[in-house]
Amino acid sequence: MAMSADGKIALPGNIEVKISGEKDFSRVHHMRNRCDAILVGVGTIVADDPKLTVKERFVKDPSQPLRVVLDSKGRIPRDARVFADENYLIATTVESDDPRWVMCGDGERVDLHMLMEELDRRGIRTLMVEGGGEVVHSFFEEDLVDEYSVFIGSLIIGGRSAPTPADGARQILKNLELIDHETLDHGILLRFRVKR
Ligand SMILES: NC(=O)c1ccc[n+]([C@@H]2O[C@H](COP(=O)([O-])OP(=O)(O)OC[C@H]3O[C@@H](n4cnc5c(N)ncnc54)[C@H](OP(=O)(O)O)[C@@H]3O)[C@@H](O)[C@H]2O)c1
Repeated sequence: MAMSADGKIALPGNIEVKISGEKDFSRVHHMRNRCDAILVGVGTIVADDPKLTVKERFVKDPSQPLRVVLDSKGRIPRDARVFADENYLIATTVESDDPRWVMCGDGERVDLHMLMEELDRRGIRTLMVEGGGEVVHSFFEEDLVDEYSVFIGSLIIGGRSAPTPADGARQILKNLELIDHETLDHGILLRFRVKR
């Protein structure tokens, strides 16, 4: 995640804002490239329409990990950029004939443990969760996070409704161990391991 110095990941109304710079973008693309899959929630697709690919500008001959979107009700726009090629999977709770749409339970939201089993069956061993706040909250809540990296940029956003990195309703309270820190662009990158 990338957040402002006051702990916000976007402007109120989920409007995208530049928090980090080229060095951090490059780091994110290298990290994507080292993973077997990248995951975001449909909220991030609707707000930012990211491609979720590894840019050749940052990584030569990228491996292009599988792109996974959590979308319980199938509300992802059909022209979303994540559909640019077939290397994607939509985790949902609604039936579909499309083999790239996988049912993960029939509850209100995608069952993350079912999704982890499905990804494991597909040979996915490393998953990078890129947000947004609700999805990160769910992964913490379900105790599915091994490492958490956050870039803190040099800006204040303010606004009570601006999203934060772990934005669910319930308290989660997890203890972290700081394993690395580095100044990058005009901010700082922190890497934590989740204590169990
Ligand atoms: N600064 C950063 O590093 C960064 C990174 C990524 C995103 N963002 C920002 O984050 C904002 C979007 O965040 P967001 O919290 O609104 O959306 P989000 O976390 O991307 O997506 C949340 C949606 O995913 C769906 N979902 C399905 N199963 C889920 C589950 N088990 N747990 C949680 N969500 C599940 C839900 O919609 P359904 O019920 O319809 O399925 C839920 O509303 C945008 O403003 C974006 O710019 C910032």
